[in-house]
Amino acid sequence: MIQFPLDEVARSDERARATEDLKTEREGHEMARHPRPRKRHGSVVCSRKVAAPAQSRSRDRTPLSPSHDRPVNPQQWRDAMQTWALPESILAAAPESPWGFPIEPFRTRVERAKPGDLSFANRRALEALPEHGTVLDIGVGSGAASLPLHPRCSLIVGVDASAALLAEFRRQARRVGAGARTVRGTWPDVQRRTPVADVVVCNHVVYNVGDLAPFALALHRRARQRVVLELTRRHPTSWMADLWLRFHDLERPVRPDAADAFSLLRGLGLPVRRRSASSDRGAGGFSRREDAVASIRRRLCLDASRDPEVAEALGDRLVHADALWAVRPPSQPIVTLWWDVGE
Ligand SMILES: C[S@@+](CC[C@H](N)C(=O)[O-])C[C@H]1O[C@@H](n2cnc3c(N)ncnc32)[C@H](O)[C@@H]1O
Repeated sequence: MIQFPLDEVARSDERARATEDLKTEREGHEMARHPRPRKRHGSVVCSRKVAAPAQSRSRDRTPLSPSHDRPVNPQQWRDAMQTWALPESILAAAPESPWGFPIEPFRTRVERAKPGDLSFANRRALEALPEHGTVLDIGVGSGAASLPLHPRCSLIVGVDASAALLAEFRRQARRVGAGARTVRGTWPDVQRRTPVADVVVCNHVVYNVGDLAPFALALHRRARQRVVLELTRRHPTSWMADLWLRFHDLERPVRPDAADAFSLLRGLGLPVRRRSASSDRGAGGFSRREDAVASIRRRLCLDASRDPEVAEALGDRLVHADALWAVRPPSQPIVTLWWDVGE
């Protein structure tokens, strides 16, 4: 187990999260006055019993989880992730796998990013990156977390379980002239095939990880300077709760959330800092409306004949902007977690 002095980190973290968390805590307390029993598949070990007020349940039915600083251990994270598993009956009837990531939104997001337009997580990574340094990007996708750093670094090593997304990452790296290598496989299984880098980044992967402790410790071991993670405050598909109810009469869980991830990492002794703010994430999308609808229909384990119903249920969450069709859920804060390896 790694042990670090944590007091200064705790103080700076308190300052960083003050504004956003105060707002969310007020909302959370408000909701706690309107409890309602919820049907669940599986057990929620670290779930808080709050429910959305009745007037907001027609759209995003997921209650905002209030900020909390309850200790979350690796087993509790695992158990909470397990509650996201879909019932066998729904999976067995699905015509296509609901998992997997369509390439087009990732590609369009990276291609439309303006050079020099850096997210908060990009800036935290950049400030720890020496000139001509190296970056390891875990769950690289098409490279949104690391390609913005390329003018400063000599090499980006992208790790991903998906061969198709690694191919897209290599294409995007060539397009911008970044040095790139790829490692195909699941983190942390491939850690021994992956070089140490100055900075390790890992954006929007945490909610795919059941065993977060070994995952995070392997990130730490592969970083010389800093590890930077970015994630949404709540599970990225939590906005689909009303759709699951409508099409499958299935309640979806609300935990784990970013506060749980922070708590778990701090419990491992990592000197993690945290910043939560409204989204400054660029958005990608599909050139065809039907592909945007189909991406959600697939996640809902439905067949193509249900596309019109899915589009109708999405309502004004299905948008056409900048010549791209995209599903835009109500925006939720983006949380950046980062720590320095030598602290
Ligand atoms: C939501 S995408 C995020 C991509 C990119 N980091 C970004 O911010 O745009 C998640 C990516 O992580 C990959 N992934 C998920 N779990 C992984 C794991 N344990 N090891 C390697 N790749 C993983 C998926 O294949 C996918 O490309």
